[in-house]
Amino acid sequence: MNFHVLTLFPEMIEAAFTTSITGRAMASGLLNLNAVNIRDYAEEKRKGRIDDYSYGGGAGMIMQAEPVYRAFCAAAAGLENPRVLFMTPQGRTFDQHFAAELAQEKDLVFLCGHYEGIDQRVLDEIVTDEVSIGDYVLTGGELPALVMMDAIARLVPGVLSNEDSAQTESFMGDGLLEYPQYSRPEEWHGKQVPPILLSGDHGKVDRWRREQSLLRTAQRRPDLCGGAVLDKKDRKFIREAGLEEYYDI
Ligand code: ADE
Repeated sequence: MNFHVLTLFPEMIEAAFTTSITGRAMASGLLNLNAVNIRDYAEEKRKGRIDDYSYGGGAGMIMQAEPVYRAFCAAAAGLENPRVLFMTPQGRTFDQHFAAELAQEKDLVFLCGHYEGIDQRVLDEIVTDEVSIGDYVLTGGELPALVMMDAIARLVPGVLSNEDSAQTESFMGDGLLEYPQYSRPEEWHGKQVPPILLSGDHGKVDRWRREQSLLRTAQRRPDLCGGAVLDKKDRKFIREAGLEEYYDI
């Protein structure tokens, strides 16, 4: 998977993405990062400046169309109709389904804005998807792009060392939140690890974890319960635990 990022702060993207799991996947060739500095595509006469005043007035500077377009052409050279994702709070909200959809692509182009915005004409010409990472406003598109890149990267086969972990965690497959986890010691600050986890009975442990997931999802994210894939044992537990109002059973 190749990530192309059009940004005024390529070092911010590089620093984060070359760290930890995504960095390891880059080293092994599963992921590629092409961070393009839009400033390098400033018009000659403007000496590295890529922003200007807003026609019609108003505070704040606007990123001009031409440098953004040139940076895009450089990044996307040779790519056939790539998805071009513009980070904006006005966009479609990013979620796990969207991440899974984008993880199917070979190349993704992220456009990160700054200042008060980007000239609408270049957005109309190159952007395929406007994407928001949530209902709050950040100072630029770099953090949203990194959030998306991380969520997408971990779905690329081989990026996570245990391939299963991408599937069994929250929101994927069964649509439930993850169960609580514990490690050594058995007692910490007077709190015991749930005894069933020490029983060595894998069947019982799996059942307990599943029930914890069902319970947690009802308590914390009741909006997700309707989409959960349930089996007979789940339905029995839901009735016994009095969770019928949350799940479709
Ligand atoms: N740029 C500024 N805020 C943003 C957000 N919430 N999502 C995507 N891009 C943004």
